[in-house]
Amino acid sequence: MQRYPSRSDLSDMESYRIALLGLGTVGRAVAELLCTTRDECAARAGRPIEVSRIVVRDPSRDREVPPDLPGEAILGGDAIEAISDPEIDAIVELVGGTEAPLEWIRLALEQGKDVITANKAVLAVHGDELFGVADHHGSSLYYEASVAAAVPILQVIQQGIPAGPVDRLTGILNGTCNFILGRLEELSFDESVKAAQAAGLAEADPTLDISGMDSAHKLALLARILLGCSVPLENLRIEGIEGLSPHDIEFGWEHDLSLKLIAMLRRNSHGTSLGVMPCFLPNSHPLASVRDEDNAVLLEAEPFGALVLQGKGAGGMPTAGSVVADIIRAARGESIATPRSGVLEQITDPGDLPVRHYLRLEVPDRPGVLARVAGALAAEGVGIAALDQPEILDTVGEQVPIRIMTHPVSTTQLDAALALLDEDLRSITRPIRIRIEE
Ligand SMILES: NC(=O)c1ccc[n+]([C@@H]2O[C@H](COP(=O)([O-])OP(=O)(O)OC[C@H]3O[C@@H](n4cnc5c(N)ncnc54)[C@H](OP(=O)(O)O)[C@@H]3O)[C@@H](O)[C@H]2O)c1
Repeated sequence: MQRYPSRSDLSDMESYRIALLGLGTVGRAVAELLCTTRDECAARAGRPIEVSRIVVRDPSRDREVPPDLPGEAILGGDAIEAISDPEIDAIVELVGGTEAPLEWIRLALEQGKDVITANKAVLAVHGDELFGVADHHGSSLYYEASVAAAVPILQVIQQGIPAGPVDRLTGILNGTCNFILGRLEELSFDESVKAAQAAGLAEADPTLDISGMDSAHKLALLARILLGCSVPLENLRIEGIEGLSPHDIEFGWEHDLSLKLIAMLRRNSHGTSLGVMPCFLPNSHPLASVRDEDNAVLLEAEPFGALVLQGKGAGGMPTAGSVVADIIRAARGESIATPRSGVLEQITDPGDLPVRHYLRLEVPDRPGVLARVAGALAAEGVGIAALDQPEILDTVGEQVPIRIMTHPVSTTQLDAALALLDEDLRSITRPIRIRIEE
């Protein structure tokens, strides 16, 4: 059994010194956690962990730095200067964005320093370069917190399961979108976004989350480990949750389905498909009950069947837990292997697999409209399994929603049918179509 060193064993050990870049939601939580778990962190790392420097955008602003933070914690605004400090062993990048972090992470790795980051965007976009620099300079890049915050999914797929066998990954990877979809049960889309902002889960500009791009960044990082190569984001089907409404949630209730933003990876003899799409899941599906800002990943493989990992997917403290775990790993000198064998060129579209679809159209309440919709669908071979239009009095000439469940078709086939619809039938809102996964 492993025995952690005692406080007196540790007093002679050289400290592991970090520069904390960013003292926002996550950075502050990391500082707090390093204070409250100081002895345990030192014991697990085998040496004390100290914060030597903190870098923020505006060091003149009044801010709370925990007074008992281990280390000197010199506050400044110059990241390059902090990274280049020869006393620093590692940088912990908790700023976000892509361009400046690319430069900082590259510089730290070139200097042989460890890098710990929660920044999925910089790794999804510049991963090839950064993992290459780390390999070249024998430095390590730790990024557990960048995917599913508190859920140690990267550890599990890197070390906890046999290499190679995962042939299906289904993930709820964006806590903000999951929270918004939950609020849609009672609120409009715009009100649900505001609720997520008020809960500190969505940025002032929520585009990265609601467009599905944040989930795609995380999917690309998971795929890099599972497939051993990088995934060009521009080759993925990436769809978000914009424009969804309580009508769609109600359809789910009526049919025992739950609406989720799903990131998926499927491997079979025809190839590998990857994408991000809102999907209806049967209520019996293991991810259907994932609520609020939780994230969850379902891994399926021949040797172990199905495995679900679930936990807080956003928020300062849940993310800080994974960041601090990575700092401990780095301080212990645990290396982290990141397989790289080129780029995944052949990516198939997960929308190619025929499934039932839900379709909502806002159309003018006029005679003949339903016939035109049915005609467009029939022209592309899309069969209607069920159709309903709420009975609303006095709406003649106004826009009303019609909701359709199709027989199994590919998403591409359905999109071709929707393209045939007259402009005036889809003028006010774009059609909403959602796959119903089995
Ligand atoms: N928030 C979450 O729930 C969560 C979850 C998982 C991963 N992440 C990732 O964690 C990272 C940080 O997110 P966050 O929510 O903590 O961000 P945040 O609250 O916006 O904090 C950003 C911090 O970075 C500092 N900063 C910004 N630009 C800078 C610059 N040019 N030079 C130096 N410092 C700069 C800011 O300084 P000032 O204080 O002076 O403004 C602030 O302290 C992002 O990559 C994010 O994707 C966040």
